[in-house]
Amino acid sequence: MINLIPLPEKIKQQKDIFSFEKKNATVCFSPRLSEIKKIVSVVLGCDFKETEGSAVLNFVFDKSKEKEAYSLTVNKNGIEVLASGYEGAFYALQTVRQLFETDLKNKKVLSAPFTEIENDSPRYEWRGLQLDESRHFFGKETVKKLLDFMAMYKLNVFHWHLTDDQGWRIEIKKYPLLTEIGSKRNASQLGNWNCLDMDYTSHEGFYTQEDIKEIVAYAKERCIEIVPEIDFPAHSAAALAAYNNLACRNIPCEVLTYFGEVVPFSKGIHDWNRTLCLGKDEVYSFVFDVIDEVAALFPFEYFHVGGDEAPRNEWKKCPLCQKKIKDENLKNEDELQGFFTNKLNEHLKALGKTLIGWNEILSAKGLDRDVVAQYWTLKKDPNVTKHLKKGGKIIMSCHNSFYFDMPHTQAKVRNTYYFNPLKHNVPEAYMSEVLGLEGENWTEWTDCENELFFKLSVRTLALAESAWSTEKSKSFKDFCRRLQRHKFYFDALGIYYGHDEFTVNASVLKKTKKAKSLGISVKNYDAEYEMDKLKRKK
Ligand code: ACM
Ligand code: ZN
Repeated sequence: MINLIPLPEKIKQQKDIFSFEKKNATVCFSPRLSEIKKIVSVVLGCDFKETEGSAVLNFVFDKSKEKEAYSLTVNKNGIEVLASGYEGAFYALQTVRQLFETDLKNKKVLSAPFTEIENDSPRYEWRGLQLDESRHFFGKETVKKLLDFMAMYKLNVFHWHLTDDQGWRIEIKKYPLLTEIGSKRNASQLGNWNCLDMDYTSHEGFYTQEDIKEIVAYAKERCIEIVPEIDFPAHSAAALAAYNNLACRNIPCEVLTYFGEVVPFSKGIHDWNRTLCLGKDEVYSFVFDVIDEVAALFPFEYFHVGGDEAPRNEWKKCPLCQKKIKDENLKNEDELQGFFTNKLNEHLKALGKTLIGWNEILSAKGLDRDVVAQYWTLKKDPNVTKHLKKGGKIIMSCHNSFYFDMPHTQAKVRNTYYFNPLKHNVPEAYMSEVLGLEGENWTEWTDCENELFFKLSVRTLALAESAWSTEKSKSFKDFCRRLQRHKFYFDALGIYYGHDEFTVNASVLKKTKKAKSLGISVKNYDAEYEMDKLKRKK
């Protein structure tokens, strides 16, 4: 039975089994692939002795292979991997790991069915997963666990949302208050967007620059690049709490303790959703300084500047913003944000970086076509089409397929699995401009590791197959069957997951019969969520 996720297009398996004793395991590297040495034991969980000639596991250099591609054979002679470099060999190793039929941790003998995989390679170059650590801070160990999980399923971009209204999570040496003040909040809104209850315990945490370097290196070893996201000019209340002067009105404010407009509106607070002032020179210096320090920590070509959901009301009333509009011959506040985005882009380009922003940034006049837009809104955005027509690239994260924090009834695993840009406002002629797909883990209502993995585990596998495998090799039914096998890996890795009834088959639950048979209400997700909560918290 083939149980691999993501599924290779060309795979054959036989009943025969190749077995070897862990303690006698040997590995042979062709010289060009010896760079994979360090990671072999880490991935496969046994100490391989290096030998020359025939071994249990043989890595063979094949220069005809694309960077991430590999071929793999398991037969009576052992396991042979063909690749042209580290990435291909690493992905082959992840496949080998999934072929082993026994518990990697405990069993003395490992075995895999005779298998032939021909030139397995990814559909998209960007196979991303995002984590929002502003709303809740998880820390290094959870991040490393997530990176291990991503690597196992051949995902290659970790999008790290490090700043937002509710917390600034990265040390910036030139602006120490960003973490001294901006990384702590006194309380957190509980429950959901409409809930007025607060948890009055403080929440804090941030990464030092040394922590960041450690995680970047850890990811690199696992073929994962990290794109940092630092949000400008909105979603920046934590920065404004630290440096009040960055806003249009220089008034004190706190790191936000609530996650939307319901709480502040109920309390009559109207100053909660302020932006950076785009008329002050000191704001431009601040933003460039922050970018310089962050860019130096992340070798990846891309840099995410957010740019979504920026309200215009402060800029409309601010004399400095209005002066900027006049001085720069701009029409209005939309063009003011565009002017700012163009400045960010110029600065990033000079550092050799490519700017990514949420699709709202595309409303900027005269925006460079080299910026990448992350398309999260469900509604057709005509600016995305214009951007594609200019040859601009996009990453797809439409929320009802890729917002993994959303209830399973709203963002179904099936949507992630069968995601096709053609059905989401991307004309066929521009398919080659789609860099790839990315799953988002916003964490307003996710406050511990189990909760995080509960929401993302099964969906991440669907994302992995959607982003790696060809359209023609996909079958949701078969994916659900293979998924059963992967629960074994979830357990081995300590990854919390939900029950199929609530995840894969969430839509089935809409039919009350099934809900009734499980003893839960039709508001199925919430019922399950409550039922299982204690277990997840442990
Ligand atoms: C977003 O969800 N505002 C990108
Ligand atoms: Zn202003």
